[in-house]
Amino acid sequence: MTKPGRGHWRSRIGFIWAAAGSAVGLGNIWRFPYMAGENGGSIFVLVYLGCVLLLGLPVMIAEVMLGKATQSNPVGAFRALAGRHSPWQLVGFMGVLAAFVILSFYSVVAGWCLDFLYKTVTGVFRPGHTMEEVTRIFEQLLASPRPQIAFHGVFMLLTVGIVVAGVQKGLERWNKILMPALIVILLVLVGYGLTQPGGAPAMQFMLRADPSKLTAKTVLAAMGQCFFSLSLGMGAMLTYGSYMRREDRIPTAAAWVVAMDTGIALLAGFAVFPIVFTFGQSPQGGPGLVFKALPAAFLQMPGGTAVALAFFVLLLFAALTSSISLLEVITAYFVDEYQMPRRTAATMFGLVCFLMGVGCAYSGGYLDFLDQLQSNYLLPFGALLISLFAGWRLDKTVAREEFAGTRYARLHGAWRVCVRFVCPILVLLIFLNATGLLAKLFGP
Ligand code: PHE
Repeated sequence: MTKPGRGHWRSRIGFIWAAAGSAVGLGNIWRFPYMAGENGGSIFVLVYLGCVLLLGLPVMIAEVMLGKATQSNPVGAFRALAGRHSPWQLVGFMGVLAAFVILSFYSVVAGWCLDFLYKTVTGVFRPGHTMEEVTRIFEQLLASPRPQIAFHGVFMLLTVGIVVAGVQKGLERWNKILMPALIVILLVLVGYGLTQPGGAPAMQFMLRADPSKLTAKTVLAAMGQCFFSLSLGMGAMLTYGSYMRREDRIPTAAAWVVAMDTGIALLAGFAVFPIVFTFGQSPQGGPGLVFKALPAAFLQMPGGTAVALAFFVLLLFAALTSSISLLEVITAYFVDEYQMPRRTAATMFGLVCFLMGVGCAYSGGYLDFLDQLQSNYLLPFGALLISLFAGWRLDKTVAREEFAGTRYARLHGAWRVCVRFVCPILVLLIFLNATGLLAKLFGP
């Protein structure tokens, strides 16, 4: 039975679209390419894929399971499973907190997309604009809080609007519309990119791994990117899992979501890097990569305005289907725990995130700091605890039943080993490695 009065997805595919919508976001299209660019290209991609398989998939299954088993928000889920006075509830609190942190800077970056869309439509970006001109326009935007705040506000309004409409009429409906549209636009851009002269060097950059470039920083960045991109470690997947119907099975759905997210990140790389290389730009463009190199490249090519429009619409859709899942974590918490009406919760805390984001518009450094904090520390730490909980505290039969009768039944044992040992140990090692402690203990 599903809990009365709480929303639930209309169908199995409803959960998959929504969860994939949450996972596929700025993380895939804005963050993945520049992280790969900054961290050695192919070697980053390789470590990233390893993280997805060993950490992402098992933690995804664990997190959705905690939600589905309790049909509750992150705090309520840990309370239901561990007891009213258990410190495990803190993991849920940490997730709600992380949602505030992520949503506040995420919406500012999404606001940049809106600003670029606006500039493309109103002709501020004109065919023939060079890299210098686009860079100047982007840097001007970063230096002026007003337009950033305005577009961040518009984006937050869209997010609040969808969350207020509820699980089926808001989240499920919009994900089912925006996600397929996003995939079509992306495929067109990849097709375009690979036929450009930069297609071949881009493939090399993404696929030919050079192990000598492997550093502790690359590994930490790849792990952070994996959890961020899959929306793991802070209760978003737990909350979406809580709207699953009893009869739907988790492993199959989780595998779909992970596959879509990873596929789309790689495709984004294949769309972005060919263009970067064709127009002679450096892949190490940092957070500005897709906001400088791409528009400049688009404006150099025939019909580029249309391609630029397509790209920024794509980015906007991706961001929106993720931001609603962030606000949903916060909303579900206040609706479940304090019986607050959905409308009040979504509006009030949307406003709080808006105000937090305003700080980012005044200081790019603050945005970077929040981004690093969540992806390299908050999310992996959350994922570590979720995995320990699912491996050691959760009733064994819950997981066994989820695996039974699916294609993945035989993988139940492997999953258990992952959440009990592999994930926690790996996350800890990567943490230690990044602090340099491992090298001190075992180094020459
Ligand atoms: N996964 C989203 C992205 O890739 C970001 C996100 C993180 C959304 C955590 C929800 C929770 O952009």
